[in-house]
Amino acid sequence: MDAVTTVANLRAAMRPLRPHQRCIGFVPTMGYLHAGHEALMRRAREECDLVVVSIFVNPTQFGPREDLDAYPRDLARDQELCRRAGVDVLFAPTSPEIYRRDHATWVAVEELTDIACGALRPGHFRGVATVCAKLFNIVKPDRAYFGEKDYQQLQVIRRMVRDLFMPLTIVGVPTVREPDGLAMSSRNSYLSPTERQAARVVPRALQAAQEAVERGELETARIIAALEGTIAAQPLASLQYAVIVDPETLQPLRILTQEARLLAAVCIGKTRLIDNAPLAPKAPPPGAV
Ligand code: PAJ
Repeated sequence: MDAVTTVANLRAAMRPLRPHQRCIGFVPTMGYLHAGHEALMRRAREECDLVVVSIFVNPTQFGPREDLDAYPRDLARDQELCRRAGVDVLFAPTSPEIYRRDHATWVAVEELTDIACGALRPGHFRGVATVCAKLFNIVKPDRAYFGEKDYQQLQVIRRMVRDLFMPLTIVGVPTVREPDGLAMSSRNSYLSPTERQAARVVPRALQAAQEAVERGELETARIIAALEGTIAAQPLASLQYAVIVDPETLQPLRILTQEARLLAAVCIGKTRLIDNAPLAPKAPPPGAV
């Protein structure tokens, strides 16, 4: 399917469609699409009358020493995947189309971005929030689909939409995994075959933490120690962060008295992988006070 590349053409293409569509669904991506992106598109296809996908490698969410230039790209393959997933409109703008030379407006979501990826990648979520705000204003969707794979991003976008009264619903979609448990990601293509094998340690470490909770552990430092122990056993892996947080405010928790989210970033060689898992404290045995 053809891609629309300018804001003016996207608006022109959608203007005649809009009055006939009860629900417009939108899936923002950076391309190099895989089954994780596809799950978002299929969910949008099920729930909406018109499905719009964007492919834009957003320069403002990459730090100066990050992988903007190396980020994998394959528009022809992405176009085919979108066609197969039943996407109606594909928007693939250039960088100067989205950021004019004198671009000066930013959206900063505070507090939620102080920890985890936000602490490690200064300015990252400002770039993500800004580009999503721009894309929402261009596409004007009723529903936008985001993966739980990027859990902090999902909560940052939810908060931005709530705080700024943006007229759309954010839908979170569960993480799609490879058969061995590794979360699908465009960045998995950076891994050598040996590193790819080693990367299995990431879902295993999350599982070790969940098993600690199932055994009744409530102290988050000890739950994280179970994850650290698993990572430490894999020589190609190094832990960047692991934190257990409130699922909405993303504030770190010391004791697991409620449902929580474990967020982790692990380097496999030079490739940084993020993943997360829900944690729920064990229900007390029947009759316990
Ligand atoms: P990208 O990494 O391309 O991801 C696009 C969307 O796909 C995000 O919502 C992400 O969470 C989701 N996704 C990625 N891998 C997934 C998986 N294994 N299972 C389920 N969903 C998955 O995230 C971005 O792009 C950008 O930051 C963006 C939001 C487009 C702003 O530039």
